[in-house]
Amino acid sequence: MINATEVRNGFKRRMPGAGEPRLFRAPGRVNLIGEHTDYNEGFVMPAAIEFSTIAAVSARTDSKVHVYSKTLDQAFEFDLDDPAPKPVDGWSDYVAGTAYSLRDGGAKLRGANLLIDSDVPLGSGLSSSAAIEVSAAYALLAIAGVAMEPIQIALACQRAENQFVGVRSGIMDQFASCFGALGHALMLDCRSLGHQELPLPPNVSLVICNTMVKHELAGGEYNQRRADCEEGAKTLGIRALRDITVEEFADRGKVLPERIFRRCRHVVTENARVEEAAQALRSHDCAVFGELMNESHASLDQDYEVTCPELNVMVELARQVSGVYGARMTGGGFGGCTINLVQTDAVERFHQMVAKGYQERTGLTPEIYVTAASQGATEVFPT
Ligand code: GLA
Repeated sequence: MINATEVRNGFKRRMPGAGEPRLFRAPGRVNLIGEHTDYNEGFVMPAAIEFSTIAAVSARTDSKVHVYSKTLDQAFEFDLDDPAPKPVDGWSDYVAGTAYSLRDGGAKLRGANLLIDSDVPLGSGLSSSAAIEVSAAYALLAIAGVAMEPIQIALACQRAENQFVGVRSGIMDQFASCFGALGHALMLDCRSLGHQELPLPPNVSLVICNTMVKHELAGGEYNQRRADCEEGAKTLGIRALRDITVEEFADRGKVLPERIFRRCRHVVTENARVEEAAQALRSHDCAVFGELMNESHASLDQDYEVTCPELNVMVELARQVSGVYGARMTGGGFGGCTINLVQTDAVERFHQMVAKGYQERTGLTPEIYVTAASQGATEVFPT
């Protein structure tokens, strides 16, 4: 886990004379089930993870934000008074986009010195970008003395992604980063934004396998999926794919063109799976939960077409290990990570077998992380 004292010291070295910083941590997330349902006003079940971003911040007297990414060793500067800011197609867009989104929502921000440090693996489906956005939002609001409800912060960060960065993502990542709860998954209704914290059962571990294949959400595929869903909903005469059951869809969906039909079938069945998975978690039924994860992956592979060969190999290998309840891709797809629900006493065996098998099959060395479900964004105090 990223160390607050080191971030504070890094800030003071990098920005001498900028004063004592305040520090805000925001976690990445892993999604247990409910993929590509958030922008269809459906259900998701993410958990915040132990990887996180820390933003160290101090106030300036002008309207500039000087931001330095320790992770990438790159600096960037922007002006809060810029009337027509433009993205530059880089990591700094997540910070600048968040600042402008807060500003345009009415928050009176002030200039800031900002250092961002993160151990969330980049571009791997664990919401490294949401962690930057949320930590930067907390930091900028705090030094400006602006109080804002976490749900408004999450929505402002989502707007940054949608309007500034240009990815039409849903609310899941920013929500999980703001609302994460220690030891719990979050069952979120992306229409009402109401959520429930579901305790994870004892003796099972969340194991994340990084294929080391990078994805690029802005690559157009993500927005294309969303457009397909919107077309499907429009043809079906419903507000969102949330508004049709699996049974109704089996009948009414027949009017849709083949590709749109499959995209919509994924979303409609995935929503049902999340509700079943929540029920399984409430009754500590890991076997059923794992089965739903496996079905989710198959649907993302065949109907939604957002997996890739490496993700498929990774889940296939995982399922061969005894003590694994379920395995699926997590996040946007096209690379990135899988999430595996594994009996805790099988984790070591899992690690060895999956790492070896994946290397043999793909020539790539995977990274495998065991994570607890963690707390959402908060101020942190170096010791
Ligand atoms: C990305 C987006 C989320 C969500 C997932 C897919 O992580 O940022 O909003 O749509 O993909 O479930």
